[in-house]
Amino acid sequence: MGDRMIYFDNAATTFPKPKEVYDAIMEAMKEYGANPGRSGHKLALKMSREIYKTRELLAQLFNVSNPMNIIFTGNCTDSLNIVIKGLLKEGDHVITTSMEHNSVLRPLHALKKKGVDVTIVQADNMGRINPEDIRRSIKDNTKLIATTHVSNLTGTILPVEEIGKIAKDNGIYYLVDAAQSAGVYDIDVEKMNIDFLAFPGHKSLLGPQGTGGLYIREGIDVEEMKQGGTGSASHLLDQPHICPDRYESGTLNGPGIVGLGAGVNYILREGIERIRKHEIKLTKHFMEEVLKIDKVKVYGPLDIAEHGPVVAINILGADSSEVSYVLDEKYNIATRPGLHCAPLAHKTIGTLEEGVVRFSFGPFNTHEEIDIAIRAIKEITLEL
Ligand code: ALA
Repeated sequence: MGDRMIYFDNAATTFPKPKEVYDAIMEAMKEYGANPGRSGHKLALKMSREIYKTRELLAQLFNVSNPMNIIFTGNCTDSLNIVIKGLLKEGDHVITTSMEHNSVLRPLHALKKKGVDVTIVQADNMGRINPEDIRRSIKDNTKLIATTHVSNLTGTILPVEEIGKIAKDNGIYYLVDAAQSAGVYDIDVEKMNIDFLAFPGHKSLLGPQGTGGLYIREGIDVEEMKQGGTGSASHLLDQPHICPDRYESGTLNGPGIVGLGAGVNYILREGIERIRKHEIKLTKHFMEEVLKIDKVKVYGPLDIAEHGPVVAINILGADSSEVSYVLDEKYNIATRPGLHCAPLAHKTIGTLEEGVVRFSFGPFNTHEEIDIAIRAIKEITLEL
């Protein structure tokens, strides 16, 4: 089934993965599938070492000096929740944007009910954030700025380096949601003054679902969300405070993390710049061609320099779910319609009622696939 499809839903989960990712997961399952960090036998040690290698690869990718400051989670939502709920207390102020996913907005909304003050900076109708609006929103009690790096709706790239500088200059922590950028865009936690970097494993880092991670800058006290067995300091009933153990209670997804390591290794070997150039070239081609079709509206910035490999469109007068359904059923093209778990971003671009059809490109998509999709969209505009 998968190989016949044209898969343009990479912003939800990349598919397919490099062969070495599947192979690494199978090898971990079959050859050394023991519990990491618990028993001291050869198989457990092998699994622990392989997991550590993934930490090292991620540290290399994000310029993190100590791999132990990267923790593994189940997904990006887990990572965002750990920071948001473990850092913010009643009376604190947090600044975020209207381009965020519900994985940021919902935990913040929940905290608002518990006395956390939340400011949502409004983007323009292309999804662009003016860093000055963030600076102007700072209050005496602002503890955290939380922004996405690349919008999962419009593909708009946010100025994280400028925002990071504002955060640093004002002594405020900066949390970046790298759900759509990790593995495609350069992320340097030092250069960008990022204190917390939340990322999924199953998107552009090319790992499996059920993997994610979080970088926490050394020395910041974030309360853990759960307590339990860590395989360390087992004589104590208190949760150990060393990183990553503090945040990794319970058995890790060993084979998944090994697969994630294989994905990151692929990116480092192929070169993130080469992958980005390929995806941007496809995005540019898609945008140029789709803009020529009557009755199609394209959302977000038209300048490719401001754009990640995510494009939101509508066929005027047609329901986004219906268009996505026809693309799937008739043309074997996978897209995501609707609201993309980003209601305020949809409100920002004026599509909260109708939603959009989202096309998101990955490293294995081709120019020819874009041409097929363009022909399909043209046909649909004539039929619907
Ligand atoms: N957050 C993912 C998306 O935007 C699932 O599709």
